[in-house]
Amino acid sequence: MGKLIVLDNPIIKHKLTILRDKNTGTNEFRQLIKEISVLLAYSAGNDLSLEEFEIETPVAKTTGYRLSGKKLGIVPILRAGLGMVDGVLDVFPAARVGHIGMYRDEETLKPVDYYCKLPKDANKRDIFLLDPMLATGGSACDAIEKLKNLGVESIKMLNIIAAPEGVEKVRKEHPDVNLYIASIDEKLNENGYIVPGLGDAGDRLFGTK
Ligand code: PRP
Ligand code: URA
Repeated sequence: MGKLIVLDNPIIKHKLTILRDKNTGTNEFRQLIKEISVLLAYSAGNDLSLEEFEIETPVAKTTGYRLSGKKLGIVPILRAGLGMVDGVLDVFPAARVGHIGMYRDEETLKPVDYYCKLPKDANKRDIFLLDPMLATGGSACDAIEKLKNLGVESIKMLNIIAAPEGVEKVRKEHPDVNLYIASIDEKLNENGYIVPGLGDAGDRLFGTK
């Protein structure tokens, strides 16, 4: 079974509270999404492999370390996942970036695909799939399926807020995927929104409502 890591950290709780607040404006919202994404990226990088090499400090020779193993790919689910890209790229600047475009039909809550462009060698990379919201899990499962159909074997999904229903669906349908989440909230409401959540992440990021 893949990992389920929920970041239990006072800094995250502090930042999440401001993010949730309906009075937080677009600019600060975008900045907080980025900052929390950095913390999620560090957490998701905990098991990356290292190789040793020798360096010289101004004082002495010592053993240094650099990330080794598979190259990385970052794949945001549009639109809201875009808000997480810069933070994750700050941590892994050499990663390639692909995009999966998907929106949730307001009536059926089912994801509708509209775009997909991934690195040619995506199947050889460890993929970090980004979406701030994991609600019913429909969009996440479709995006994971797309990646797997291209031969991707290692997927880590980074979410800022998840509903228990979405976590359960991803774990059931894709038990090999590792999940890194800043908060698992209480539930979904009758409109498929996460409670207490933060509202519509895409609209709050881009100021479209
Ligand atoms: C949001 C969110 C996820 C999806 C989660 O995107 O960013 O992609 O909903 O819901 P689910 O788990 O029930 O599938 P949305 O469809 O609002 O599109 P947007 O990012 O373009 O606003
Ligand atoms: N998508 C969002 O942006 N917010 C939710 O609460 C659920 C899905």
